[in-house]
Amino acid sequence: MGDRKNVYRCQQCGHVSPKWLGRCTECQAWHSLAEESPVRRSAGARGASTAEAHPVLLKDVSFHTEQRISVGMQEWDRVLGGGMVPGSMILLAGDPGIGKSTLLLQGLARLANERRVLYVSGEESPQQLKLRAARLGIAADKLFILCETSLDALLEIMKRDPPEILAVDSIQTMHSGHLDLSPGSISQVRECSARLMRMAKETDITTFLIGHVTKEGAIAGPRVLEHLVDTVLYLEGDRSHAFRLLRAVKNRFGSTNEIGVFEMKESGLEEVLNPSELLLAERPIGFSGSVVMCCIEGTRPLLVEIQALVSASGWTQPRRTSIGIDGNRLSILVAVLEKRLGFHFPQQDVFINVAGGVRLVEPAVDLAVTAALMSSYLDKPLPADLVVWGEVGLAGEVRGVTHTDIRLMEARKLGFSRSLIPKSNADRLIPDASPGCMGVRSLPEVLELLFGDAAR
Ligand SMILES: Nc1ncnc2c1ncn2[C@@H]1O[C@H](COP(=O)(O)OP(=O)(O)OP(=O)(O)O)[C@@H](O)[C@H]1O
Ligand SMILES: [Mg+2]
Repeated sequence: MGDRKNVYRCQQCGHVSPKWLGRCTECQAWHSLAEESPVRRSAGARGASTAEAHPVLLKDVSFHTEQRISVGMQEWDRVLGGGMVPGSMILLAGDPGIGKSTLLLQGLARLANERRVLYVSGEESPQQLKLRAARLGIAADKLFILCETSLDALLEIMKRDPPEILAVDSIQTMHSGHLDLSPGSISQVRECSARLMRMAKETDITTFLIGHVTKEGAIAGPRVLEHLVDTVLYLEGDRSHAFRLLRAVKNRFGSTNEIGVFEMKESGLEEVLNPSELLLAERPIGFSGSVVMCCIEGTRPLLVEIQALVSASGWTQPRRTSIGIDGNRLSILVAVLEKRLGFHFPQQDVFINVAGGVRLVEPAVDLAVTAALMSSYLDKPLPADLVVWGEVGLAGEVRGVTHTDIRLMEARKLGFSRSLIPKSNADRLIPDASPGCMGVRSLPEVLELLFGDAAR
């Protein structure tokens, strides 16, 4: 096997082709194939010698009882399932500039007070890191930093002086000498992560990796990293809004239902312990088309304002535009209102906006959108202390949703004394414990209850 030809690897899905193609035959991505020489490894590059490995009985394996390392930020810890598991590898992914380095630096600075923490940056110089720390008001006296892009050098340093917690910002900037490829290519990212993972498991170093997300939503082009690491966290949010959500999309040591909410400020990312309050802070009172609903993000209730605007259209084909909810869902709800309640939208533009840049996907949003549309159409404001949620079917029926208790509790906490919810959910509540709760079965009932005479 003397002459080993170069191969072409898709930078999106990792598919290997013997010849160059304009489009990957596996994932159909255009211009994604890059030339690579066949993987050249030095002797022993596969890491730990297998000579000592032997099977053991699971019952004989010793472990530390559920010992977790707290990051010291409640929102972080919640998303991780109660803190970090020693020796685990956590990937923090997100769009460029969303605040990944900021969040990590803030968390690590706290950890550094009690543990040996090493922050490796391949993107910024020590001066730039210092500048950020100064802006964030972080003392970080005990935080070690290293500006390095060579993985071999990093592993060598860690062998001499192992940290308890390691952070690599970002995995796309690291390169391993075992491969003759530029940093950021799929094979480099996979190789570097795999070697760090091996190190983490062997020496119990808890490792954070920062990964950039491409426009298509894939980490580092491919999703290969997601399979490798123990936990994948996404930092997401609309850059024009200050809100940032930290979401676990994979967690080997906890649930993936939790989210952490942060607000981006000059002084860094600040935990938002009561996001509902912040989301409703600028709500206009006494205006038609505004409805508050309680949605569930993970297992967490969040009160959001939904705004509707129904106005005369200057177009032959009126517009149906929505921000924060699916456009198809809006079209269906408009059609249901026309068919079941006799509303007429043929000459009207319909706009829906979820305030605060939140995206809602659960069906419970249906009834709130419908109520907002009714309110704007009739130009009648709804009571300021009312919350609404429920799923709406094509026959105009209101269907039950989950987590009624949690939603009601959150609404009551923020002073909403009345709620309009599906009848099937309301029937299961203890009557005396939920005052002001109205159960509805269908849209005509909703119209009568909310607008009475105005609707006739
Ligand atoms: N002086 C400042 N005041 C307020 N916000 C700032 C300030 N400087 C930076 N920011 C915020 O911090 C964000 C950049 O944060 P950070 O560098 O942590 O993001 P990142 O996700 O690591 O980005 P990259 O992908 O470039 O590494 C900016 O988009 C901005 O919102
Ligand atoms: Mg960064």
